[in-house]
Amino acid sequence: MSIKFYLRPALFALGMTLSFLLPAQKLNPAIEKRIDALLAKMTTEEKAGEMTQLSLDMICVGSSYNLTQPNTIDPAKLKKVIQDYHVGSILNVGTSAHTAARWQEIITEIQAEAAKSRLKIPVLYGIDAIHGVNYTLGTTLYPQPLGVAATWNPALAERLGTITAYECRASGIPWTFSPAMDLCRYPVWSRTWESFGEDVLMNKTFGLAMIKGYQGNNMGDAFHIAACMKHFTGYGAAVSGKDRTYAWIPDRELREYYLPQYEAAIKNGAMTVMINSAGFNGIPSHANKALITGILKSEWGFKGLVVSDWEDVKYLTTRHKVAATYKEAVQMAINAGIDMAMVANDLEFTQYLIESIKEGSIPMSRINDAVRRILRVKIMLGLFEKTHDPLSNYPKFGGEEFRQTSLEAAREALILAKNQDKALPLSKSSKVLVVGPTATSIRALNGGWTNTWQGELSDEVYVAKNTILEAIQAAIGADKVSYVEGANFEALTTVNDAVAVAANADVIVLCLGEQSYTEVPGTINDLTLDAPQIELAHALAKTGKPVILVLAEGRPRLIEAFEAEMKAVLIAFYPGMEGGTAIADVLFGDVNPSGKLPLTYPRYANGIVPYDYKFLEALDPATGYPGGKNKFYDPQYAFGFGLSYTNFEYKNLTVNKPAFNKNESLEISVQVTNTGGRQGQEAVQLYVSDLFASIAPSVRRLRGFQKISLQAGETRTVTFKITMQDLAFVGIDNKWVTEPGDFKAMIGELSVDFKLNKPVVKATPKKVGP
Ligand code: BGC
Repeated sequence: MSIKFYLRPALFALGMTLSFLLPAQKLNPAIEKRIDALLAKMTTEEKAGEMTQLSLDMICVGSSYNLTQPNTIDPAKLKKVIQDYHVGSILNVGTSAHTAARWQEIITEIQAEAAKSRLKIPVLYGIDAIHGVNYTLGTTLYPQPLGVAATWNPALAERLGTITAYECRASGIPWTFSPAMDLCRYPVWSRTWESFGEDVLMNKTFGLAMIKGYQGNNMGDAFHIAACMKHFTGYGAAVSGKDRTYAWIPDRELREYYLPQYEAAIKNGAMTVMINSAGFNGIPSHANKALITGILKSEWGFKGLVVSDWEDVKYLTTRHKVAATYKEAVQMAINAGIDMAMVANDLEFTQYLIESIKEGSIPMSRINDAVRRILRVKIMLGLFEKTHDPLSNYPKFGGEEFRQTSLEAAREALILAKNQDKALPLSKSSKVLVVGPTATSIRALNGGWTNTWQGELSDEVYVAKNTILEAIQAAIGADKVSYVEGANFEALTTVNDAVAVAANADVIVLCLGEQSYTEVPGTINDLTLDAPQIELAHALAKTGKPVILVLAEGRPRLIEAFEAEMKAVLIAFYPGMEGGTAIADVLFGDVNPSGKLPLTYPRYANGIVPYDYKFLEALDPATGYPGGKNKFYDPQYAFGFGLSYTNFEYKNLTVNKPAFNKNESLEISVQVTNTGGRQGQEAVQLYVSDLFASIAPSVRRLRGFQKISLQAGETRTVTFKITMQDLAFVGIDNKWVTEPGDFKAMIGELSVDFKLNKPVVKATPKKVGP
């Protein structure tokens, strides 16, 4: 029998790169006493209402999705929802974004109605604030999560989360539906850009950093809010890559890839979670009792509230077809462990819930548990004490300090993926021709969830912000810049003009990518960049002028068809409202790029392989043996890749001992020198490969990273401390385990071997004598 070290999951969940800890899920007896008193007074109807979350549309003048402008609360509807239906939560935005002052009025009106109710339980307002408070006008928007991960800078991510919390509270709203901690393993997915990429450690680290920023040490204070991890879990693993479709995830993989980030967040104080609208193994997650009640609540001891995703209780019947009626769906979801349903646009849910409780189809113990969790979050958020602080308490709202942080994040999010013949940075005296559909669009920099769900209003709302074109003009003077569209997102338009104007330019900055989208409307059937844009790229490359490709896109659209013709490639994903400025800063060398890919950028539509593939997939298919050109993992750009205008040389990768024991830690150090001519930042990445294991190991797994800044000529020793938890995997029996044996640590091109020792077995003393 081979020797294994089984691990307590809690140990593993903490991870090695965390420098902070939020309060764990401990109950506060004083809060529980308050809940006991309230629960004892609540009627069945009040409890069912508490578990209901409605969209703002339901209390506004007009009909859902078709509200009168400007959106106004209809007092009669509000009264009905609060007094007759006892609704506990309202979400989102209606049909337009509002100013912070208007939000405060809306929240005040809602809470004033709640204060008139029998038990005066405040309403919990929730909103999608995923890259800043995107439904409040005048706030600080920053890169979308994929861009945040591309910074490899969790401390910066935490600062961004703090900005959201501040501006969200300024809007009177205490709860955001963020961060998305879905691992994205198939980047055709229309929500790829809402994730932190394909790796578990990245998702865990950035998810925790955002949560720490949102919640601080006390989510009930005037500057912090409750985070909502979503979408639990496996949402980004859909077999088809299409939004809201099924994944198939074996238990072992579930535990190794799709649970650790959530478990860590819970251990670090996350108090709300949203469920995956789809599901895995044919089980809709909203009906998955083993997942919600079993793993989340029982195994991990989650004490917060579980909210459904949009209309997903009803969808158990209309989409998933696992319940014959809406009422049966209500019973299925609540019995599985959903505490609050994001209904969002009907009152039937509440009615069916009341009926089901009265008929005994849902036990009162389950209802009390759900309501207790909701009240707990409301109390922790301080909602019983005050509605919100006055706007004057938020002097930094939408101000210069926050804008600078957004700009810093946009700059660090940019990935220089190619720089042939040092084509970049460009000289500020160059004559630049700017071409392409993303050059003049703030919408293509902000992405979805910007003022509206699909983000289609960005170009009207963010007129004061620089598009890529405007930022280039500002950087070098408009007289040196010409612009020709060449193609829009649908078709070639003025490609011949672009080619003609190129004759007078020194360089072409070609801005391609995607318009904003999210969820089902962002579905595509081919990851390849759209044909008109590819044609445009070919036409411009044929002019013989150097072409610099800038990609503003939500997922890695394939560029293999023309990448070789490009002199340089700068990947921006969705960098946010300061993205145009940040791109110009990098193009002209005012900023040295330091972003690295948080996912693999595929080369081929049928070559989608994440970086942590198995050794089997590393065989050269031509020979059947390892080595040669690995055609299995042959991406356009690898996970973790990104260039700089300076050079970093890695030397002396060492371990502090060749072998370590079970309860010890191992130090892995490397010397990094900036051998180039200017200051730069570098994300130093530690990968470890388990050379032999009972479950086929990955060729490498990211086990740590640190972003450092080095002056030209400066050397720094970077040290990673790992323990056996960092080498663990989920074994054949679905338990976390580390197997002693041989490992390889890899940083840059260097590698060093080490061993985890087998335990010393004490010899039983031999009997001496007769
Ligand atoms: C999305 C969630 C979002 C919710 C509320 C759903 O369609 O899947 O991510 O939080 O809507 O807007």
